[in-house]
Amino acid sequence: MQLLDGRITAEGIRKELALAVQERKRNGKKIPHLAAILVGNDGGSLTYVGAKVKACDQIGFESTLIRYDDSVPEDILLAKVHALNEDKSIDGFIVQLPLPAHIDELKITQAIDPKKDVDGFHPVNLGNMVLNLPGFLPATPAGILELMKRNNIETEGKNCVIIGRSNIVGTPLSIMLGRNANPGNCTVTLAHSRTQNLQEICLKADILIAAIGQPDFVTADMVREGAVIIDVGTTRVEDLSRARGWRLKGDVDFDNVAPKCSYITPVPGGVGPMTIASLMINTLKAMELKGK
Ligand code: GUN
Repeated sequence: MQLLDGRITAEGIRKELALAVQERKRNGKKIPHLAAILVGNDGGSLTYVGAKVKACDQIGFESTLIRYDDSVPEDILLAKVHALNEDKSIDGFIVQLPLPAHIDELKITQAIDPKKDVDGFHPVNLGNMVLNLPGFLPATPAGILELMKRNNIETEGKNCVIIGRSNIVGTPLSIMLGRNANPGNCTVTLAHSRTQNLQEICLKADILIAAIGQPDFVTADMVREGAVIIDVGTTRVEDLSRARGWRLKGDVDFDNVAPKCSYITPVPGGVGPMTIASLMINTLKAMELKGK
């Protein structure tokens, strides 16, 4: 078994992006500027947005964090999105999800200018992705593909089973892995809460991707010998042995699954850092697309 180490792979990407920034500086060009909107105080979202800002600092991008209280009205948030769309100093921005229940996530996502939508969540970018046209790819699926590519994981002709059909991970990933591309050319099965015979389906997977947010959902008896396992789960579970009282847990029972597979992503340190690296790649691309 080999670890698919997202921290090391993402560090390589950050170094490449830092070189691109230095090159731009030398040529007197604009430095990419990412803005992030964070609503509320959810611990997970705070950590993720903090990591995004930190990655910007490491690479040399500019970043702006905009925070609102949980109770922010939808129209205030929408007005901010419109202002960022118009702000020429901002090359790309994200609105960290989930948002509080009184805010319509789709409305907010659709209000973002597709040219600044570095999360790749806008319907225009998702449509471009389906048609294999230029646009922004959603950060987590793109990060998973980049992780596989940079670690020479063969995908062509493989059976790939994805568990979870979310708009931001499972559904776009199923399309990206089925495309005629490298990575891609998989035969994809998108499993979900209504899937029957899940164990039987998973046992046929050369590549098994778990993205449902249920700790230890994928057990060793669901995994074929030699499979590649990608774990997208990041649930906080109680851990009183740690000062902070919790740790992150993936969707895969790592200890029992790892001995059976050829490659596996750890949690933390697998998909998470790659999601952030993809966002950084998209931010540089957003600025280059403007011809700046
Ligand atoms: N919430 C969970 N993953 C993501 C992500 O990739 N982007 C944003 N904006 N919110 C998220």
